[in-house]
Order: sequence, then C-alpha cells, then structure tokens
Amino acid sequence: MTDEPKSVAEAAALLRAGQLCAFPTETVYGLGADATDADAVLSIYETKGRPRFNPLIIHCADLAMAETLAEFSPLARRVASLWPGSLTLVLPARPGNGLADVATAGLDSVAIRIPDHPLALQLIAAVGRPLAAPSANPSGRLSPTTAEQVRRGFAGRVPVLDGGPCQAGVESTIIRVEGERLVQLRAGAVAREEIERRLGVAVALAEKHVAVTAPGMLVSHYAPNALLRLNAEPRPGEAYLAFGNAAAFAGPMRNLSPAGDLHEAARNLFSMLHELDAAGASMIAVAPIPDERLGEAINDRLQRAAAPRG
Ligand code: TXA
Ligand code: MG
Repeated sequence: MTDEPKSVAEAAALLRAGQLCAFPTETVYGLGADATDADAVLSIYETKGRPRFNPLIIHCADLAMAETLAEFSPLARRVASLWPGSLTLVLPARPGNGLADVATAGLDSVAIRIPDHPLALQLIAAVGRPLAAPSANPSGRLSPTTAEQVRRGFAGRVPVLDGGPCQAGVESTIIRVEGERLVQLRAGAVAREEIERRLGVAVALAEKHVAVTAPGMLVSHYAPNALLRLNAEPRPGEAYLAFGNAAAFAGPMRNLSPAGDLHEAARNLFSMLHELDAAGASMIAVAPIPDERLGEAINDRLQRAAAPRG
C-alpha cells in the first residue's frame, strides 16, 4: 500500500515529483500525471495497461491554461463557456505546447477539459501544470466513482486523493470542433441535447467508422468480470441491474433508479456494476434503459461492457 495524500498540497507534491496520483472529478476518478512529463505519463499507460495509441484527456485549472495547449476558434470558445464541466473538447494542438507526446499519443489534436470539482481544480492549480488523467481503472475495466474502487482496482499501489463519491458517475461528453461543426465523439455526462440547447448550435453524431480513428472508442472498454445481457429479464442464478419500477428478484440486485431518473442512473451505473460483480455472479441481466438524454451515454457504456471480449 502507498501512503495516501491527506491534502491537495500532498497530492500536488507527488504529481510535481513525477509520480501518479488519482484524484476526484465530478465524472469519475482520474489517474493523474503531470502532462508535460513524458515519464510520468508513460507510467499512466503502464499502470493502466493501456494501449499506447489511446490518447489522454488533459485537465486544466482555467481557460488561460487551456489556451496554452490548443487553438481556440470562436466556436470552440463558445463551447468552452460551458466549463468547468463534464465536457471535453478536442481541438488543434498548439505547436510547442509542452505536452508530452505520449499524452496525446502523437496526434496533432488535444482533448481538454476543466473539471467541475473543487479538489480537482485546486490540485491542478497547485501543481501549476496541466494533468493528463484517464479514468483511474485498469484498462478495459469499470471506471471508478469512489476512492475505494480506485484502491481496489490497483491493489493499493496508486495513491488516491479522496473526495468522496463522484456526482455524475459517467465520463465526460467528448466534442470535436471541426470548422463550424460540432461532432460528438463520445456520449457522456452532459447530454447532447443540453449542449445544443445551451449553445444554440447543433451537435452531430460521429459516424461509427470515425470512432475507430477516435481511439478509446474500443468496443469492449468498460468490462466488468461478469458477462452482461442487455434489455433483459433476470433468470435464476444471474444478478440483476434494474431501472425504474422492478419486481423483486431473489438473486443479487441493484436498481439504477427506482424513480426512473437518468441522472441518478448514470451516477449509480459503475458503482452498481462493481457491486454486482463483487457479488460473484457470472451473468448480469440489465433492464432496458431509455435511449434518450443521459440514457445515450448509459447505453453506450453498457453496450461496450456487453461486447464480446477479445
Ligand atoms: O470524465 C472523463 O472524461 C474522465 C475524467 C477522469 O476526466 N476521463 C476519461 O479519460 O474518461 P479516458 O482517458 O478514459 O478517456 C479519454 C477519451 C478516450 O476515448 C480517447 O480516445 C479520447 O478521449 N481522446 C483523447 N484525445 C483525443 C483526440 N485528440 N482525439 C480524439 N479522441 C481523443
Ligand atoms: Mg476510461
């Protein structure tokens, strides 16, 4: 076990020394490293067992920091007015921005966000450098929404700044600015409709084949140990992940939201999959989730978790 950082200052000291430290954001816990330190970023890939071609989100404390990393068009600036928040922007990288190549996997674009979490913002400001942070889980496993899940996932080998459970519980929405167009690369904690409504700009969906070149959209990416059956009624011997009104079930069961609230369901998604996994079932039946608003992100994660492993 590593010593846990007891304060933002202690966590910042670890990061400034080139070590990893997991930290809370409003979406999920991130496995942070100084994004300008190639060795530190490489140890993110090693610790997660993450394929090298899968670039990382760069977390900034404020817009001034973000502007040192990427070129902001007027449209990008408009989207950035939604920061801090659960929205990641993919923008052209600014040459000589100091980011380690491994952090962006050598792409000439960079994925940036300003998280809406006081500890995350204090931490980035205290480090004084942008932090590369993928979700703090071994590659291909569930994203953690508590410090305890991070500790368990990495068997206590990664220090964690504990900020309690994450509010959103699902990763950020990723938007690429393409000239005058906005394209959603990953559904996430902010619904596409909400972005459209708040900005008055249409957000297109990325075509499936484009998703292959947007790494990280690897099909099987959020896999629990158990297999998943989607849009299903539970059978004896299975575990059951319910949504809304659900009949009692004899086996391990969680309800994402008895009230049928998609926000609550998104927040509970990974925790409840973790819990059902820990209950030892080899199959989890998952109730249908409406494919609207945050249901889009929930169903995306569920489909990846259910995809054939290979
Ligand atoms: O909520 C979140 O976004 C969490 C918290 C910790 O901030 N982070 C997170 O990071 O989910 P990660 O590394 O698990 O997911 C990063 C995603 C991947 O799908 C990756 O392929 C994509 O961002 N990405 C990064 N840079 C990109 C780029 N230049 N172009 C397209 N996609 C990019
Ligand atoms: Mg992840």
